[in-house]
Amino acid sequence: MRVFINKRIPELGITMLEEAGLEVILPEHDDLSYEEWLKYCQDADAILSIGSDFKYDKKFFEACPNIKAIALYSVGFDHVDIQEANQRNIPVGNTPDVLSRATSDVAFLLMQSVSRRASYNFQKVKEGNWKTFDPLHALGQELYGKTLGIFGLGRIGFEMAEKSRKAFDMNIIYHNRHQNEQAEKELQAQYVSFEELIAHSDVLSVHASFTPDQKELFNRSVFEKMKPNAIFINTARGGFHQQQDLYEALVNGAIWGAGLDVTNPEPMSENDPILELSNVCVLPHIGSATIEARNGMARLAAENIIAFSKGEKMPHCANP
Ligand code: DGY
Repeated sequence: MRVFINKRIPELGITMLEEAGLEVILPEHDDLSYEEWLKYCQDADAILSIGSDFKYDKKFFEACPNIKAIALYSVGFDHVDIQEANQRNIPVGNTPDVLSRATSDVAFLLMQSVSRRASYNFQKVKEGNWKTFDPLHALGQELYGKTLGIFGLGRIGFEMAEKSRKAFDMNIIYHNRHQNEQAEKELQAQYVSFEELIAHSDVLSVHASFTPDQKELFNRSVFEKMKPNAIFINTARGGFHQQQDLYEALVNGAIWGAGLDVTNPEPMSENDPILELSNVCVLPHIGSATIEARNGMARLAAENIIAFSKGEKMPHCANP
């Protein structure tokens, strides 16, 4: 079986595939155009797929009839048309759990960074503008006892809530498709409606899986209903927020700050005016970027491909 991997991943994953007797195809360079990527996919039986630059849609499946399995190197699968994959009996593997700690760490980092204006202050030091002690400049707000609203309380949302509760004794409210009994019991988390979530959160952190019907859910009308001291955190998918509306909400004081590990569009332009604001911290989608998480993702993706090659069900599958 020929397995195309579109970018280098930790060696562990490649070794597992080779030791299982599979032929691994790596591209000549990491920056493939759509046409180059498609050509590699057409010559493969399975793909271990890194990133979401290219979509697995009807056009792809029609152009690559030999593809029998896709193992994503991500937990998110919003760049895959699962219905199209189902119609062709193509399993789509993903990498849950192994990145929950790392990604929730980044949400936690952004929450603290924005609450104490860390990027702005770091920038000030770099520019030589650290002149004197100023009792009134660049004041942050403390997180102790504040209300953290979690939108999407799955594995990553739970870890963010748990850390925030332990570190800052934050009250946890959440909105989710289903109520989460474990969170209610262990974190005294309270299930609320979406309207209540946006109205009561001092920090609102997005952790849901992205679906097209949630596109730009966090827009002007939502930001206007949030508290003026609220911090908006998005480490899930940039498509959840309307970035121009977010910029305006930050400028006109509808909300207090924002921490983004995902942007809309992604990657975003270095000229985006949001980068000029002092109440924003933006990271380049590094949620899962730890040695531990990336090794875990390589292992799970390789396990998915190997199981498929043996005629078994993928152990971590996004489609039923
Ligand atoms: C994921 O796993 O979905 C992360 O966002 C990395 O793409």
